Amino acid sequence: MTLALESAHETQAARASPFLKWAGGKRQLLPQIRRFYPPTFTEYAEPFLGSGAVFFDLASRGLLDGKRVLLMDSNPDLIASYAAVRDNVDQVLAHLRRLAEGHRSEGSRFYYGVRDERFNPIRRSLARERASGTSESAELAAMMIYLNRTCFNGLFRLNAKGDFNTPAGRYTNPTICDEANLRNVSVVLQTLGVELRLGDFSAISDLAAPGAFVYFDPPYAPLSRTANFTSYTASGFSDAQQGQLRDLVVTLAERSSHVLLSNSVAPLTTRLYETSRKARRAGLRPYRVPARRAINCDGSSRGSVDEYLVSNVDPVEMDGR
Ligand SMILES: C[S@@+](CC[C@H](N)C(=O)[O-])C[C@H]1O[C@@H](n2cnc3c(N)ncnc32)[C@H](O)[C@@H]1O
Repeated sequence: MTLALESAHETQAARASPFLKWAGGKRQLLPQIRRFYPPTFTEYAEPFLGSGAVFFDLASRGLLDGKRVLLMDSNPDLIASYAAVRDNVDQVLAHLRRLAEGHRSEGSRFYYGVRDERFNPIRRSLARERASGTSESAELAAMMIYLNRTCFNGLFRLNAKGDFNTPAGRYTNPTICDEANLRNVSVVLQTLGVELRLGDFSAISDLAAPGAFVYFDPPYAPLSRTANFTSYTASGFSDAQQGQLRDLVVTLAERSSHVLLSNSVAPLTTRLYETSRKARRAGLRPYRVPARRAINCDGSSRGSVDEYLVSNVDPVEMDGR
């Protein structure tokens, strides 16, 4: 690659930011999260990718250059969208421009037409490929981005049949096709040679090498039995999975990986990370940090709550690194 091309790519990487809105997105917590970026690490893995706020932040700072990067999520629509943006951004943009035009002229009538007559039927017809993580249609990715930018609160909600059923949001002029950012995202995913994987977080224990930096952002443990939003996919995320995740984080910490986990401050997470000897023995420390986030299940009401950042990396002072 010529020097000029290399520096153009660096500029694009520096500007790439999340292209989806995602429940539990960590953009607002970045100033706190950055304090735990390890000074050195060999590779980066993020098994609960969502909109990838931390991945894009690390990439924009050049902290992933020359390193292996592995991004994972159990949501097939999400992983297929990243793959299509990485490999086929021109086609994604062409479809997205048409969708933006349709939305401008017909609004929510167009939204429901896309959701019910195109997006869900195509998803159903590709069920087998999607389950194995091999489908990456530019048209589906464009519809995913369009629906995400125009649906209620950017929620990705599925009904019992697995169909996307979030209603239309009420936005006067939503940004549907941000061409510059999607091109920047495509370049950053390509230049870093990002590996995208569909699957359960547990696979990370075989995939991440010692010395890796692994950031875990699972669905929040419920603050109470009724106030939870954990149905990112049709299956949700159980207390037992939170326990398995804690054990995995402990295993990686014992294997000299740099780990960082964010989660709600809830009775379950306090037990798993704050009062647990096992976690402490592995060098994990829980930090309570103030966060603003949706505090009810439909995301319509926001408030200030503490969240956990759990890590075996010593945090730097604010603005220290
Ligand atoms: C809190 S969100 C991550 C948000 C992300 N950090 C961001 O900035 O947007 C949790 C993610 O975990 C994914 N997920 C849920 N259960 C999972 C599992 N068992 N294995 C891997 N990913 C899972 C969801 O699809 C969702 O994208």
